[in-house]
Amino acid sequence: MPVITFANAKGGAGKTTAALILATELAAQGYRVTILDADPQRWITRWHELSGAQRNLSVISEVSMGSLQTHIRENRDYTDYFIVDLAGARDAMVATAIGLSDHVMIPIQGCAMDAHGGAQILELLQQLDQRAGVRIDHSVVLTRMSAVVTTRAMVAIKQLLAERGVAVLDTTIGERAAFRDIFDCGGTLRTMDPQRVSNLDKARENARLLAEEVLRRVPARRTTSSRLLHRLARAA
Ligand SMILES: Nc1ncnc2c1ncn2[C@@H]1O[C@H](COP(=O)(O)OP(=O)(O)OP(=O)(O)O)[C@@H](O)[C@H]1O
Ligand SMILES: [Mg+2]
Repeated sequence: MPVITFANAKGGAGKTTAALILATELAAQGYRVTILDADPQRWITRWHELSGAQRNLSVISEVSMGSLQTHIRENRDYTDYFIVDLAGARDAMVATAIGLSDHVMIPIQGCAMDAHGGAQILELLQQLDQRAGVRIDHSVVLTRMSAVVTTRAMVAIKQLLAERGVAVLDTTIGERAAFRDIFDCGGTLRTMDPQRVSNLDKARENARLLAEEVLRRVPARRTTSSRLLHRLARAA
């Protein structure tokens, strides 16, 4: 049950959107996902209230520094992936969540290349490694990529980050109406109406590729007990 945390010290980098897209896609693929909503704006909690119960998906709200570890411990047998959404900050809560993570995703807006907030998280990860010997896997995910960003520009961005030793997901998250509208409509990309949301098919394909890459990089480690519980739950 890996813990995947979305972090960027800068507000509005696209953390909540990326976290929800990944979580709903993993759940749609049959993985049991628990979202820990530690974003004070509670967008995912509001989305969940609007959407009603979703198969394979639980949302825990009001997650604090003190409760984070307890939530993970109490739900680990019923969860294939924990997804943590954080505030756009660099505070003790962010540091705690990062310390409990198996993988930290750092969304950076590709078009703006405003990497400052992302760099602060990378710094935090480096400090954890140097001061405490705790090494946490992490990767940058370029988000809000506009269709006009050329492949050449993309390659240049990825190269720049790679030179600094930062892993970058091959899959980028596009700037898509569906990724905005999901918070207003509720439900998932799969339940949205293609007549009403432009390029929904492209958004769905984007989410599928994102989940595929994350599953490859951060495989679900199911314990025997959780597999058994899963099977029993399905049979019931
Ligand atoms: N891929 C995307 N396509 C379209 N709009 C997006 C995308 N990603 C983010 N946005 C929009 O950008 C704004 C900020 O995104 P989001 O709330 O996901 O960022 P955040 O990093 O969670 O912000 P905060 O730090 O305030 O929690 C929102 O209005 C959201 O709808
Ligand atoms: Mg947010």
